[in-house]
Amino acid sequence: QSVADLTGKHVLISAGGTREHLDPVRYLGNSSSGKQGYALARIAAARGAKVTLVAANSELPDPAGVQVVPVVSAQELYDEITGRAADADAIVMAAAVADFRPADVVEHKIKKTADGAVPAVNLVQNPDILHTISHDRARPDQIIVGFAAETGDADHTVLDLGRAKLERKGCDLLVVNDVSGGKVFGSDLNEAVILDRAGTALPVPSGSKDALSGVIWNLVATHWPTPRP
Ligand code: C5P
Repeated sequence: QSVADLTGKHVLISAGGTREHLDPVRYLGNSSSGKQGYALARIAAARGAKVTLVAANSELPDPAGVQVVPVVSAQELYDEITGRAADADAIVMAAAVADFRPADVVEHKIKKTADGAVPAVNLVQNPDILHTISHDRARPDQIIVGFAAETGDADHTVLDLGRAKLERKGCDLLVVNDVSGGKVFGSDLNEAVILDRAGTALPVPSGSKDALSGVIWNLVATHWPTPRP
């Protein structure tokens, strides 16, 4: 591809992992480093795109030339992504979004009590952002990419699970990572397969998260409708 082949496109990317607070200092979270989303943002900017990166709790430095919007919780991420969706030619949901949040966030730090009682945490479901933006498209010409970290089991391969997820979520491309044995998390490397709407598995040469980002943008670019001459 040419160096600036994404010029004129606006891409919206989520990265990192959401935190769902129980009290001012404790939260339910996950171990996403944000590396994949940041790599996607850096590579898209280098290829000429206007990039908005909605970043949940990542320690990584802001990539050059990228607008970074910090968020903490899944609800904040939902608000930023849905609020910006109409401006985006592509949306890539690389963030690890907590499926549940505590039903109540208490104002003061939860303390131990003398009687040793253990507090109960009631959870409620967070909105599924990828599902929402895919089923309720802000623009018909927009390409939406999801990620799935799967471990196969006795009855289902990682690809079976990926195909079912693609169907359920309604996105255009799904990047499926096999995370059995703790691979991928926090690593600079990625082993993935990309599924398209037809369920075809496009193998990705195993390599860096930068390399996977390049493959993802190549695919997104082939899915955009060709402009009329
Ligand atoms: O269902 P699962 O969490 O495996 O799906 C992963 C994909 O869905 C990722 O692209 C993630 O960013 C997105 N997701 C979301 N909203 C949620 C949960 C996941 O957008 N509440």
